[in-house]
Amino acid sequence: MNIIHHPDEMRQWAFDRRAEGKTIGLVPTMGALHEGHLSLMQASVEENDLTVASIFVNPAQFAPHEDYDQYPRTLKDDCAKSEAMGVDLIYAPNASAMYPRNYASYVEVERLQDGLCGVTRPHFFRGVATVVAKLFNTTVPHKAYFGLKDGQQVGIIKRMVRDLDFGIEIVALPTIRESDGLAMSSRNKYLSDSDRKRALCISRSLNTAQELMAAGEVDAARVIAKVREVMHSLEIDYIELVDAEELTPVDSIKGPVMLAVAAKVGDTRLIDNMRFDPTDDFHAAPKQYDINTSIDSEAGGA
Ligand code: PAJ
Repeated sequence: MNIIHHPDEMRQWAFDRRAEGKTIGLVPTMGALHEGHLSLMQASVEENDLTVASIFVNPAQFAPHEDYDQYPRTLKDDCAKSEAMGVDLIYAPNASAMYPRNYASYVEVERLQDGLCGVTRPHFFRGVATVVAKLFNTTVPHKAYFGLKDGQQVGIIKRMVRDLDFGIEIVALPTIRESDGLAMSSRNKYLSDSDRKRALCISRSLNTAQELMAAGEVDAARVIAKVREVMHSLEIDYIELVDAEELTPVDSIKGPVMLAVAAKVGDTRLIDNMRFDPTDDFHAAPKQYDINTSIDSEAGGA
């Protein structure tokens, strides 16, 4: 597997491939790859001439008390999985090359970064937006692939790309789940067997909410109360119904919304979400609402 470790070398590779007329898809990850990551790689391989997967545990998005040191690092295994998916290149930059001494430049996406996970992790989205901007500048992709599992992150990246004229198409893809409903996450590795069982009430609560809203419930407080009831055995960080694009709380469900939850199971903090659009004709099955699609269609685009 081809691996590049330095930003300058990465940018040169990208410019050379672009000069050859090749399209580049980027899948940014922090490694410890699971099927959620692999689904993004598969889409990129299908839609682009070349796919770059980045693997970088980004120190700027971890607070000192968080799990930066414990975060699983499985580069060899990740390279094998990526190669099997048809990824052409792994970009695994060194932390010292990404954040040299006296590093001082950060990207902030105002408002969207403040709510939901931003409340308990105030440093987090600044770190994410900054590293993703740096990855975009070095891999120079035509398209970049993100999971709706991290719903707030996708919204923030899309806004950053629009506001700062990156000219990159952001593709947001549905959450991949274990057969019992648990959203796949690199952090699931931390869960004990009993905590893993307890964590199932998270996806169950989202299904319950989906059924409620599909049956016509429009009162956000009632939906949230139901979710809280199903998740009662966990230490809940937040349960919020927000506008799918602005990520601001809604009182009633009139347009596309995201129901987002975060909870601690043992020592592990898990997040999950589902999207719902009451204007869709068909509510029988959970529908993934793509923020990009709505922006495009409002703008009269494809
Ligand atoms: P990481 O948690 O490794 O996730 C990389 C990508 O995989 C993200 O776009 C995430 O939303 C997606 N993903 C994770 N679990 C998924 C699942 N179950 N189904 C579908 N997609 C899933 O998110 C990050 O890394 C970092 O913040 C990053 C964007 C790389 C910046 O450091």
